[in-house]
Amino acid sequence: MTRPDFTVPSVAPERLPDLLRAMPKAELHIHIEGSLEPELIFALAGRNGVALPYASVESLRSAYAFTDLQSFLDIYYAGASVLLHEQDFYDMARAYFERAAADNVLRAELFFDPQTHTARGVSMQTVIHGLHRACADAKADFGIDAELILCFLRHLSEEDAFATLEAALPLRDKFIGVGLDSSELGHPPEKFARVFARCRELGLRRVAHAGEEGPPAYIWSALDVLQVERIDHGVQAIHDAELMARLARERVPLTVCPLSNQKLCVFPDLAEHNLGALLDAGLAATVNSDDPAYFGGYMNDNFLQTFAATGLTAQHAYQLGRNAFEGSFASAEAKRGYMAQLEAVFRRFS
Ligand code: ADE
Ligand code: ZN
Repeated sequence: MTRPDFTVPSVAPERLPDLLRAMPKAELHIHIEGSLEPELIFALAGRNGVALPYASVESLRSAYAFTDLQSFLDIYYAGASVLLHEQDFYDMARAYFERAAADNVLRAELFFDPQTHTARGVSMQTVIHGLHRACADAKADFGIDAELILCFLRHLSEEDAFATLEAALPLRDKFIGVGLDSSELGHPPEKFARVFARCRELGLRRVAHAGEEGPPAYIWSALDVLQVERIDHGVQAIHDAELMARLARERVPLTVCPLSNQKLCVFPDLAEHNLGALLDAGLAATVNSDDPAYFGGYMNDNFLQTFAATGLTAQHAYQLGRNAFEGSFASAEAKRGYMAQLEAVFRRFS
């Protein structure tokens, strides 16, 4: 997308937090099941008669002390077990959209994990209809453009992924693309080469988690074998200079999730996060919340805490905002509208 250059005005450091809150945003990496707050998990468990292995909201929340991705995924899948009916999926997404609207999110591309639900006997229709209705209402009630991306669980087989794709195809008009998530190490992208080739033939957009905990080689194969259009996380690219150069040259969007990386010990401390290094190397990095109910923050929390910890500037904020809108799967016309809104807010803060 070409657009006239915009000079980012200088913003007084004390005004930066307000600018970060007010900035229009696109969220490109949110697992909707990861937005289930403990209070809603307990409410849905009560409504659906599902027994939970935790006595209270507090004891569930106190279990959120993760050491790596797998330690989180075990609790995340247990939390999703309370989702049974279409209204449950609607309520979960609705709660997310209320938070997103408060954080000035204009566009959200939501990941969902159908295999987590179909394995428990919940139908694909139940999942997608509930989420899709919430997306339609998000536009009507909050002005948020929302789309769905179906994720395959990479710890399961290629056969299971193909069966999931088949089950979803009658609802093809209700999701825009596919992704790849769950346990990364030991499950390289190429395991799903044929599934993604089929998705490409079907005209689906393609993204994949790569380089969260896994090596740069997984980012290379997500790009070259799966032919994805964005990399989810991708922070391990920093260890491969040739890959960094390619990502910068091709402006491949990276959907970075700083609070997630902190909570899953990808970086020892938020202050050591490499978001600034990725941006300064010319990569199209963005900020996202991943699983906000588990990692202690939605979009504005991610922006505010990361900027406070790493000393990023208004220039970085603008670049992050622009990267997200440009890296989204919105139409060119919608992107122009988002960018005009982003620049209007920056002008207001000059
Ligand atoms: N599923 C939900 N959150 C995830 C993450 N951060 N990485 C991989 N799979 C996920
Ligand atoms: Zn993720």
